[in-house]
Amino acid sequence: MPFPKDFVWAASAASYQIEGAVGQDGAGLSVWDTFCTKPGAILTGDDGSVACDHYHRYKEDVAIMKQMGLKAYRLSISWPRVLPDGTGKPNEKGLAFYDALIDELIAAGIEPYVTLFHWDYPQQLFLKDGWLNPKSSDWFAEYTKLIIERLSDRVKNWITLNEPQCFVGLGHMDGLHAPGLKLAMPDALVVAHNVLLAHGKAVRTIREHAKQTPTVGYAPVAVIHTPATDSPGDIEACKKAMFTVSEATWKEIGNDIQSSLFRNNTWWMDPIFLGHYPQNALAAYGDNMCAYSQTDMDIISEKVDFLGLNSYFGPRSKLHEDGNIQNLPDPTGHVHTTMDWPRNPDILYWGPKFFYERYNVPIVITENGMANMDWVHFDGQVHDPQRIDYIRRHLLRLRDTIDDGVDVRGYFYWSIMDNFEWWHGYSQRFGLVFTDYETLKRIPKDSAKWYSQVIASNGESLDKA
Ligand code: FCB
Repeated sequence: MPFPKDFVWAASAASYQIEGAVGQDGAGLSVWDTFCTKPGAILTGDDGSVACDHYHRYKEDVAIMKQMGLKAYRLSISWPRVLPDGTGKPNEKGLAFYDALIDELIAAGIEPYVTLFHWDYPQQLFLKDGWLNPKSSDWFAEYTKLIIERLSDRVKNWITLNEPQCFVGLGHMDGLHAPGLKLAMPDALVVAHNVLLAHGKAVRTIREHAKQTPTVGYAPVAVIHTPATDSPGDIEACKKAMFTVSEATWKEIGNDIQSSLFRNNTWWMDPIFLGHYPQNALAAYGDNMCAYSQTDMDIISEKVDFLGLNSYFGPRSKLHEDGNIQNLPDPTGHVHTTMDWPRNPDILYWGPKFFYERYNVPIVITENGMANMDWVHFDGQVHDPQRIDYIRRHLLRLRDTIDDGVDVRGYFYWSIMDNFEWWHGYSQRFGLVFTDYETLKRIPKDSAKWYSQVIASNGESLDKA
């Protein structure tokens, strides 16, 4: 069975994780550049100064994408590369890089999906209190305007923010991601509110200044529970867990780090798609929540064209006899990736279904993939059958959900190539293309070749053994 006509077969990456060329050609520093210099911040002691050197090798990378037959590629812009101080005077050479990359993609027949913010926040703005500053959402709008004016003649598809749960939670509460802050809840909620406002102002700016009718999306983490059985009780229990913020759900996630408070869906999606904060979350956060106005909510809920879901794993859950949800423990020996993430392809069946039902907007899978113990084999190739199997299983479940009537427009594998995996450094390989960090040679893995066939057959080859 094929996927719908015009289904977007694609892959993703992000500026800091692949570009390298830190500080080159007039670029400003990002909070990730400074965070990486902190002893112990990155498990392996790595940083993004060279990464995949995509800044200098983008032509080779686009040629590989073309060879694979990718229909689209999701990239992100490094804010400090184009605005070294975060606001004010643009860096022409930085903008020229993105011009050239976009031109290269279009010449290769690959549609660019551009994420405005995938975590490399300008250090200069961080020094002005960053997302805590009441002006922070205007700074983001100013940056957005610059990019839209420059690229929207060729770029139609935009994504405002990537995974606010992570850069706010891990970055501003746990200190595990840049900028490494450990804010208390009241300040963290100010950051969160400013981030949502920044999203809304960016959407307005895109619509106001785009040179062609834009398609605007947003890519949060999708926290997904999959029902252990098809019984209505299990299904409802999963939905409830996914769309409620309460102490119980934080505990269910099984994570006692602070940011579990923020690792939820509704705080980050209800304001955007429903126009208000979820009541149960407001009740849970209580006096910690900052003041906000209806005008803020109107900005935040500016119309968005698609919901991007970033999803890698999720627990199988059932309704416990005490009325609460129970996450089933993984059976002994259950498959885990090298990130130690358990495999559960049902996330791409139930996740899109539940989100579509709640928000009624088209869905795009903006990230899904696995890290694997890849190496160059004796024959010079990179054989990664586990990744092929992972993608196949997830895509088959995605097709089931589409067959059930869920409007899913595309699938973006994370990632096009092995890259800098945040605080795991270069130890985790998610790519369809292997990166040799010593020589910077790229080797398309078996999964890249296999994915090409999936794309060429519009998904029909998934049924073949
Ligand atoms: C997501 C991030 C992405 C990458 C993958 C593995 O949380 O958005 O940059 O690190 O995880």
